[in-house]
Amino acid sequence: MQKQQIRKGFSKLNKDQKIDLTASYFENPVEAAQELKSYWHKNPDIQKRLDEFAENTISNFFFPYGIAPNFVINGNMYLVPMVIEESSVIAAASNAAKFWSERGGFHAEVISVTKIGQVHFIWEGHTDKLRSAMPDIKDKLIKETNSITENMRERGGGILDIELIDMTDKLDNYYQLKASFETVDSMGANFINSCLEEFGQQFKRFLKEDEHFSEKEEDCEIVMAILSNYTPECLVKTWVECEVDEFSEMDRNLSAQQFVDKFEMAVRIAQEDVYRATTHNKGIMNGIDAVVLSTGNDFRAVEACAHTYASRNGGYASLTDVRIQDGIFHYELTVPLSIGTVGGLTSLHPLARFSLELLNKPGAEQLMMIAAAAGLANNFSALKSLTTKGIQVGHMKMHLYNILNHIGVTREEKNQVVDHFKDKKVSFSNVKELVVNLRKGKS
Ligand code: MEV
Repeated sequence: MQKQQIRKGFSKLNKDQKIDLTASYFENPVEAAQELKSYWHKNPDIQKRLDEFAENTISNFFFPYGIAPNFVINGNMYLVPMVIEESSVIAAASNAAKFWSERGGFHAEVISVTKIGQVHFIWEGHTDKLRSAMPDIKDKLIKETNSITENMRERGGGILDIELIDMTDKLDNYYQLKASFETVDSMGANFINSCLEEFGQQFKRFLKEDEHFSEKEEDCEIVMAILSNYTPECLVKTWVECEVDEFSEMDRNLSAQQFVDKFEMAVRIAQEDVYRATTHNKGIMNGIDAVVLSTGNDFRAVEACAHTYASRNGGYASLTDVRIQDGIFHYELTVPLSIGTVGGLTSLHPLARFSLELLNKPGAEQLMMIAAAAGLANNFSALKSLTTKGIQVGHMKMHLYNILNHIGVTREEKNQVVDHFKDKKVSFSNVKELVVNLRKGKS
């Protein structure tokens, strides 16, 4: 069958036509189309909703949805939903959660909840004049966005402040209106962006109508109006703490003190070395992203923000810190997390809604603490393994299932292989060789 040419207007085709066109790129288009359709949700209403989350949807892409039990956070027990395709992450989170549940659990507090948006503009005029007009401008912008902010204000949020930022030393005639917002239980991107776009228009109007500005100063060019995904003041901190002696059984070859010293060294390395810091923080994001995804939040925004925050002191460093003092081990994570429990996909995605119900319908602040605890849990487990037996033993065991699925084995073969590798090193070639031998033995 001939590949159908991609032409203008793919988006105008109906879903079946999009599938046919896509399938025509395969050797067996009928089979390809069937495969795409086999992943559709059996409930057409739910499928329609999924289709409408994004454009040109032709199928669903499945990720595992798992549970990390035993998460005690500020005294409350949670089953934490995690969406992740990587083996070992949920096991690592669960192990750490269980370990800490017997030692006071995770402690957490939200430090701040402010979000930022900017109107970037070019203006040729006297900065001082604009600065002295700012109180008036601010009042006007707040008043003119009353209809947009009404609902949010009723829920306890809204616009907190609007300031003028002079950036003319960086780029000719470049300024910002930098606004701060409180968006309560919503992530708030739509709300913030609507306010900012209105600010842009009203700001232009203000310059035109205010008689203090000269003809030249009456005009400005709004370059763009958009929220910032960097939210260093939407910050959560979580920590665990116990006596050093609690680690006496972490590793056969290490005393409790040797273990915590080695653990501390691992954290210090991530505070000093950018290569290690990136992997260290990736391990934290394994936990955070999985919770963020399971609750229908924007993991790209959370990722971008976390890594910028990790660079806030001029160099990229670990997001966690450790303190060992007077026989007490204290390990903490501080991370900005702009996430919500209302709006967006949180109630539209069936499993996001399910996750939030499982977590006992948390507000945004509670969800920030849960996601952060999952991040700290994953990082704690990773460092525990790395500084003792290494991660490959556990990782490859989990990976064994992926290898077996890749090779394609029967249930009986799978049981035999898993049994064989209970106490042996897993590698793709070892597994393949065993499967071949098992099959030879059969024939
Ligand atoms: C793997 O997804 C994450 C780790 O590499 C994190 C780390 O090294 O700290 C295990």
